[in-house]
Amino acid sequence: MPRIADGKITSPSFFIGLDGNGIISFGSGQPDLPPPKEIFKHLENQRLFKYGLIQGDEKLRQALANEYPNARIENFVITNGASEALDLVFRAIYQIHGRVKVLLCRPYYYSYPSIVRLAGLEPVYVNLVEGRIDPRDFEKKVHDVKAVLINSPSNPTGRVEILSTLRLIEKITEKLGIYVISDEVYKDLIYERENYLIKGKHVLTVNSFSKTYSMCGLRVGYLYARNPKIISAATDIKMDTSMNTNILGQEMALRAMQVPKSFTTRQTAIWKKRRDFIYNELKTMGFDLWKPEGAFYVLPKIKHSQRVVNELFFKHKVIAYDGAWFGAPGRIRLSYALELAQMKEGLARIRQYLQGKDSWL
Ligand SMILES: Cc1ncc(COP(=O)(O)O)c(C=O)c1O
Repeated sequence: MPRIADGKITSPSFFIGLDGNGIISFGSGQPDLPPPKEIFKHLENQRLFKYGLIQGDEKLRQALANEYPNARIENFVITNGASEALDLVFRAIYQIHGRVKVLLCRPYYYSYPSIVRLAGLEPVYVNLVEGRIDPRDFEKKVHDVKAVLINSPSNPTGRVEILSTLRLIEKITEKLGIYVISDEVYKDLIYERENYLIKGKHVLTVNSFSKTYSMCGLRVGYLYARNPKIISAATDIKMDTSMNTNILGQEMALRAMQVPKSFTTRQTAIWKKRRDFIYNELKTMGFDLWKPEGAFYVLPKIKHSQRVVNELFFKHKVIAYDGAWFGAPGRIRLSYALELAQMKEGLARIRQYLQGKDSWL
């Protein structure tokens, strides 16, 4: 997708990494909160600048194995963020099964359809109802696919799937021999209840240190699968493509895992406060939106979303993402991964832009 065509912004890649110059960004899903300070100490070791095991550092894999029931270090591949884990898992499925179908929930994280297609697989869709999976619709469509991708809490909806739906997905896919790719990058950023992680030998878990520990740029994530064929295919593909994941980043990820859980609890409390603030403000402004239960996104309705995204950026220096990029035209996605003062200023600019445009909401 080109970043800009006929003067119109057509892809998130136009905005990713853009800041400064008075820009207020509700764009990228990059936490502004600091990572744990413990990860920066004593990193002079030369070993951290060499090639490493393709499958990933053994200490990091052991630490991860301790977090999942029945997991062993050979069940993990450490990847360049969740992004590479997704790429590898779909390519591994293609190697093993050929051109099969993958069920995606729409609205989706913008990369999903492309990652699936680039792997040689075919994306098919189940439309969310009020931001959640309709179990009856899911049951109908799942018979036709080899894999389903679940992301709860979700980017871009901010919704968390209800427990009974997650259990149904777990059961029905196991019975039918269908993979569940569980993208859990927001598993710790949840406000309404404990998360429920889908389990089983058919589950291929994707996660990263980007969101929980504010380590996006270090690019450390992982694939966890109890299916040895998937792990072996993913490791071989990784050797031929990116090689080992950044060794320094893996060391920092290991240290991040050692900090007390209170670190995550404190961060989540901040996210929740911001969630309440942006949700209430947008409601007061007249937007129609779902209340996020996890992650850090809102997806309010607005007519002419592409024009809105362009004008907000070029006239008001505000970054918002077009819902169309997530399979949700007629909405914009706002990330609330920014300080309260910035959010206030950004919302004031949006309010000003919307003056006289009440019928767009
Ligand atoms: C749902 C989802 N999956 C995967 C990713 C990729 O994250 P990473 O930085 O770990 O590659 C993101 C990033 O925003 C995301 O929102």
